[in-house]
Amino acid sequence: MSSISRRLLLAASTAALLPGAASAPPAGSAPPRQRGGNEAGLHSRAVRKGLFYGTALESGALRGEPALMEHVPVECGMLVSEANFKWADLRPAPDKFSFERADMLTAYAARHNMRVRGHTLVWHEANPDWLEQTLTPQTGEKLLTEHIHVVAGHFRRRLAHWDVVNEPLKPEDNKPFGLRDSLWLRALGPRYLDIAFHACAAADPDALRVVNEFGIDYAIDWQERRRAALLTLLADLKARNVPVQAVGLQAHLDAAEPALDQTVLNRFVSDIAGLGMKVIVTELDVRDDRLPADIATRDAAVAAHARAWLEAVLVHPAVLGVLTWGLSDKGSWLNKKFPRPDGLPQRPLPLDAAMRRKPLWSALAAALDTAPARPGRG
Ligand code: G3I
Repeated sequence: MSSISRRLLLAASTAALLPGAASAPPAGSAPPRQRGGNEAGLHSRAVRKGLFYGTALESGALRGEPALMEHVPVECGMLVSEANFKWADLRPAPDKFSFERADMLTAYAARHNMRVRGHTLVWHEANPDWLEQTLTPQTGEKLLTEHIHVVAGHFRRRLAHWDVVNEPLKPEDNKPFGLRDSLWLRALGPRYLDIAFHACAAADPDALRVVNEFGIDYAIDWQERRRAALLTLLADLKARNVPVQAVGLQAHLDAAEPALDQTVLNRFVSDIAGLGMKVIVTELDVRDDRLPADIATRDAAVAAHARAWLEAVLVHPAVLGVLTWGLSDKGSWLNKKFPRPDGLPQRPLPLDAAMRRKPLWSALAAALDTAPARPGRG
């Protein structure tokens, strides 16, 4: 049996036994504030293995959420904005670019020795009305190329990555390569990806160019179709020298989903790496809306689920790092998207609403601590 599968089997068994709260400070205790205190922060642990850890953050939190901002520099080395780098925030009118909020985030990151991911240059959501009204086959290439030239050019040499294209897939739409029937596909066909990646490479050659996707985590039919479609798409883009460099696994997980198969996950990451591409876990969180209300039960299940998923993914050297889609349970998008029937707030992230480390924090720490060190990094 290979060392990876032995490790994965061991991880799978220990994941089920993960003590969860046992290694996290008891609720109510004040966690260590200083970076590298008696419990080193998540990014400090990640760096030891040549990885990074970070979180999504809104520019509004920089001033509006002081409690959260005490913990961001303790835990994180990479930031991504939930909305400030999207068309709707950046370009309210065709001839008006508003970089203020995005620049606040990059300036904060620079002051705190953190890197920033750009998210995202092309998506079917968070677009201003004027784009939906003016994007046509005749205007599309110029609109898209100009947007990327201006935006990626504005942030040139300040971003670690760009999610060049976000969520391109929806095989159920029965379009070429399983692509989503989006405004971009309708205007430009599949070559919108070519246009976007080449434009980003020209505007900021230093930013790693990523295609970011969700729904590729579990051994269930619709997700198997997405994984297969993504691999076929990536192989075609690579064959045509479209400069895609990495895949973002959004990893919006569900603690109640039984079809977590570490072998399937590990094989998928290996297949991506086999195409010469890197992997980033870009938006990890774990919904608990289908779990009982009891907090200890939910926290333990969320932690064990995340640990099992991370073990299967982080074991591969192609993986560069992990970001969670928020650091604290306070204000997770999941409460709107998947509200719990009992109305209780979800607990999908490493810190609770009072910024205390939870079993999920311990699971992330353990997954980072047990990940193999990356050759030549860390
Ligand atoms: O900043 C404005 C604020 O000024 C205004 O008062 C307020 C009320 O209108 O809206 C604020 O902007 C909101 C923005 O989040 C910042 O909070 C937008 O309306 C809202 O649409 C936007 O939602 C974000 C959504 O993407 C669409 O951009 C969510 O926060 C964000 O979590 C979500 O993230 C996506 C990823 O990009 C892709 N993967 C899935 C993930 C979850 O849906």
